[in-house]
Amino acid sequence: MAVAAEKTKAAHDLIAEGAPIPSQARFRSFSESTAEDWAAILSKGGEHKSHVLELCLEHLDKLKQPEPGYPVDRYEHSLQTATRAWRDGQSGDDQMIAAALLHDIGDFFAPYNHGEFCAAILKPYVRPEIFWTVKHHEMFQGYHFFHHLGGDRNARDAVRDHPFAETCRRFCDDWDQTAFDPAYDTMPLEAFLPSLQRVFAKPLRQVYDRVQEN
Ligand SMILES: [Fe+2]
Ligand SMILES: [Fe+2]
Repeated sequence: MAVAAEKTKAAHDLIAEGAPIPSQARFRSFSESTAEDWAAILSKGGEHKSHVLELCLEHLDKLKQPEPGYPVDRYEHSLQTATRAWRDGQSGDDQMIAAALLHDIGDFFAPYNHGEFCAAILKPYVRPEIFWTVKHHEMFQGYHFFHHLGGDRNARDAVRDHPFAETCRRFCDDWDQTAFDPAYDTMPLEAFLPSLQRVFAKPLRQVYDRVQEN
């Protein structure tokens, strides 16, 4: 049975008031934790896992491995996707640049659903349009090659009326599927770091704010 929300001061209220805060949380289970406990954790920066960007960049770096048969490896493909987005009017959209750069970082962990892998990481930091685009990019990308592998290139038509379908189509048609050119003048990773740092500086949503939509 659900427990009704109690009108008590939250941890951030205690911090803002300058209330006494223990140096460390004293609970042995979450169910016995108090706002003071969470204030102790928050005051030490324990709420936000600031190493997310660092881990994303480590994953991106792993994409440097040779990609047998492909014109470019996934690292070059990722940078090239971000470059094409950047040069197509997206340089001021940090979230779109982050999506373009990181959309394939799950290729080793989740080769058959890597869009969901990256979308899950980005979800707290980006607007729903970006989350949806990254999550569905494999299906939209497939329009350009699924038929060569015996699949249905029009699979994306099943969601063509979704409000974010056009964004995902543009992401794939204009930037992602075109980013395999070995001769392209691709921008370096450093050019995109400020955008990434702004995106991962603070989550827009947190899991306890509300149930998030898919
Ligand atoms: Fe992909
Ligand atoms: Fe890609």
